[in-house]
Amino acid sequence: MFCVKKVSLYLAVGFFLILAVSCVSAEVSKEAVVKKTSLASLTLRRSGPDPFEQNKRLGKGINLGNALDAPNEGEWGVTLKEEYFKIIKDAGFDSVRIPCRWSNHALKEKPYTIDPNFFNRVDWAIENAIKNDLYVMLNVHHYLEMNSNPNGNSERFLGLWQQIAEHYKSYPDSVLFELLNEPDKTLTAERWNDLLRKALAVVRISNPHRTVVIEPTGAGAIYLLRKLDIPEDDRNIIVSVHYYMPMNFTHQGAEWAGEKSKEWLGTTWTGEQRQKQAIRMDFKKAAAWAKKCNRPINLGEFGAYEKADMDSRVRWTTYVAKMAIDNGWSFHYWEFCSGFGAYDPEKNAWREPLLKALIPPGK
Ligand code: BGC
Repeated sequence: MFCVKKVSLYLAVGFFLILAVSCVSAEVSKEAVVKKTSLASLTLRRSGPDPFEQNKRLGKGINLGNALDAPNEGEWGVTLKEEYFKIIKDAGFDSVRIPCRWSNHALKEKPYTIDPNFFNRVDWAIENAIKNDLYVMLNVHHYLEMNSNPNGNSERFLGLWQQIAEHYKSYPDSVLFELLNEPDKTLTAERWNDLLRKALAVVRISNPHRTVVIEPTGAGAIYLLRKLDIPEDDRNIIVSVHYYMPMNFTHQGAEWAGEKSKEWLGTTWTGEQRQKQAIRMDFKKAAAWAKKCNRPINLGEFGAYEKADMDSRVRWTTYVAKMAIDNGWSFHYWEFCSGFGAYDPEKNAWREPLLKALIPPGK
């Protein structure tokens, strides 16, 4: 009797299991046929948008620099205006990078609360970008203490990301998070690799599908890509580098680049073979790393300061932008309307040769 009961129980359970499995597989195969989905795309759907596609959508972009990254907006001469977003879109750009100095607008002590007024202002900027169909790269910029005292600031850095990530978790896929602008100095590759994992984990709690952007140390240096160690299993990442070589050309007369920058005044960039070759070789190194690691690349900053002559600036900018495009990278020119400005805020007009260097006509 006991045995008969047990056997019929097994039979019943077995029957339901077969029924359930065949129903599920019928559903799956139906879905697979209907949607023609491959296993690969199913995997991608689970982990968020394809970062290579996201990088294409970032496309050609510009930094809204010296505004929300100044100690307080306006202190470095730039206050964002609603019209800027349309001007940028109409000129042919696909995205904006919005550098933000959160560390100046948050409590120094736990729980490191971010000033709601600053959040409101960043919300306003992001929403205007979205309204104008621009992708957004939002970052933590000028957290300078991270580079001078990483151990003393790591917890606060993670606390800021916890709040930023939570705040923007329901924003569309077109908003990307960049963990930190230009990790450098005592924030060595070893420390940064450890910290970026922690920051990514914090972001992933509220934003499992958000595309995240990460720079190598040396202020986004190409030659330090080899030391960048990002979690292998997180594929929804774009790696971003910065490029200002040769510094004596791009940073001539730059007040923040020290005394030596005065001696650089008058340096030209004529575009002769050896100058182009130097840039090409740097980009080749980054491209080789990207291929080996199967990561998309963004050129998050590049530009030449206004103290250089305009013809050289245009030649250099044209060449660097072309290198990025030829390599299939997205880019963000540094920057919109300040010292490197492609746009003249007094004349309310683009500096056409610079704009053409970034958005070649007909492309
Ligand atoms: C900084 C800017 C600076 C630019 C070029 C950026 O990362 O945030 O303040 O003008 O690099 O040096």
